[in-house]
Amino acid sequence: MKKILYSLYIIIIIGIIICIINSDLFNNEKSKAIAAGEKVYNQQCLICHGETGRGEGKNAGTAINNQNYLNAVSDNDIYNSIKYGREKTAMPSYGPRLSENDLNNLVAFIREWQTEEIDFDVPKTIAGNPENGERVYNLYCLSCHGEAGAGKLKMGTALANPQYLKYTTDQQIWIGTAYGREGTRMSASLKGLDGIRQIKESDITDIVTYIRSLENK
Ligand code: HEC
Ligand code: HEC
Repeated sequence: MKKILYSLYIIIIIGIIICIINSDLFNNEKSKAIAAGEKVYNQQCLICHGETGRGEGKNAGTAINNQNYLNAVSDNDIYNSIKYGREKTAMPSYGPRLSENDLNNLVAFIREWQTEEIDFDVPKTIAGNPENGERVYNLYCLSCHGEAGAGKLKMGTALANPQYLKYTTDQQIWIGTAYGREGTRMSASLKGLDGIRQIKESDITDIVTYIRSLENK
């Protein structure tokens, strides 16, 4: 009996040691990826997205350190945005220029900016009236996001952009529209939130339906 207890004790100790080594290895890998990502970021992205990712670079770039943005996208979404870029906007496609490793390290670095967990209230299905959506879009969004979502440099992103629409879900467009990005020109649009537009939920759904309809135009 004593012997069995003794072996059990040894096994538990070994288990604990393995766990500690593993988590150390894991943390090490992770911090290496983040440091490597920061290097690439400073070389390639800082000029537009800025030192802190707030979009305060010398050229046009968006606030990719924004908590609403980071909470609305998966690592894979960030990866796709970087890899495929956005045609005809200032955002280049890095697929041809960076290695898979570089891309993944960049994602790890950007994810480190997330400090909050936010639960958004979003309708489960988003299917509205595109004609009304267009009307409301022209009233509230066109001044910055341009005619039919074409985008305007430094004013508003290109919502009709094929890469944006391909790698962004209706729910994500809804969140972007409704909750906005604090600290940028994109304030919240949803009624009841702290924004100038105060648009009701069903109109936001209509706008998203309209934006989605631009995909094949
Ligand atoms: C005053 C200018 C302005 C207005 C008006 C405005 N936006 Fe924006 N919008 C922006 C800017 C600037 C960004 C990018 C924010 C950043 O720097 O991260 C943005 C980002 C977005 C995003 C995230 C898109 C992306 O590229 O990831 C969505 C979605 C969006 N806006 C939808 C709308 C809709 C729909 C309306 C109208 C209800 C609207 N916006 C009104 C300026 C504006
Ligand atoms: C020449 C300026 C420029 C450079 C360099 C640049 N970006 Fe961008 N990036 C932009 C602009 C502008 C947008 C928004 C495009 C639009 O109008 O839809 C954007 C969009 C993005 C998005 C989508 C997020 C959003 O705001 O909707 C991510 C993620 C991103 N960039 C990451 C990067 C990373 C990582 C790098 C470096 C490898 C990089 N960018 C380099 C200008 C730039």
